[in-house]
Amino acid sequence: MQQFSTITDMRAWSRTQQREGAVIGFVPTMGALHDGHLSLIRQAKESATRVVVSIYVNPTQFDNPEDLANYPKTLEADLALLAKEGVDAVFLPTNEVMYPDGYATFIEIVGPLTDKLCAVARPGHFRGVATVVTKLFGAVLPDIAVFGEKDFQQVLIISKMVNDLNLPVDIQVGRTVREPDGLAMSSRNRRLSKESREKALGLPRGLELANKAYMDGERNAMDLIEKVANELLVHEGVELDYCDVIRLSGFAEVTQAVPGCVLAAAVFVDGVRLIDHIHLGAEHIGVEIDEE
Ligand code: PAF
Repeated sequence: MQQFSTITDMRAWSRTQQREGAVIGFVPTMGALHDGHLSLIRQAKESATRVVVSIYVNPTQFDNPEDLANYPKTLEADLALLAKEGVDAVFLPTNEVMYPDGYATFIEIVGPLTDKLCAVARPGHFRGVATVVTKLFGAVLPDIAVFGEKDFQQVLIISKMVNDLNLPVDIQVGRTVREPDGLAMSSRNRRLSKESREKALGLPRGLELANKAYMDGERNAMDLIEKVANELLVHEGVELDYCDVIRLSGFAEVTQAVPGCVLAAAVFVDGVRLIDHIHLGAEHIGVEIDEE
């Protein structure tokens, strides 16, 4: 497995591969890899002949310095996993490479995709994501890039950006991978104690309960949101950052759920921020629900 830390070396490798006819699939990550990342890599392998993974904890997408400092870092284990997975190249840039002194360019997406959910809860987050993803694309020169559906707002924003800026990258979306108990896989899960993890399970359970209510005919967004809140707020140390019903077409917040809506939530569990969502009426998370 090749390792590159400069943009020049990364780009030179990709250009050589492409001249030889390779199709480059790219999975950008912030490390602390788990099975969710591995499933994106496997998906990239299905449509590409070379797979590149980047590991870079991008400071410009963190609105909270403490969150950035606490972001899990497991580089040795990550590299071992990637080698085992048969990844062709890893891009490991430093902050100096990505944001050298005098760096001054950022990408801002405006409109409905960035005036709600994580965009409001984490000011500047998507500006940082859009900027770093564009820069990573400029280094890796991928033909295909795969992003996880768990971060569905991020996927929509990146797809919009790629379309608006005519970037020659095909964006693919990989399904959310869950732990057997239903918790969506996330690098942040490793910061949960056993007790916090139990509390965190209220998130997939609440989404599943809300989905069941939707399937049984409930359309009132507040009542669906309450199902999620009730599963979480019974615990001390749990705070709901947001919980909203969003119609995907137009990315609008709605008070009455309709087909094509997503119920999305972000929650702090003992200081660890987790996000998850469910497509109302379409998807089962597969969590055991216990209704009194
Ligand atoms: O989803 C992530 O891990 C990050 O937001 C990404 C896309 C790697 C950009 O830093």
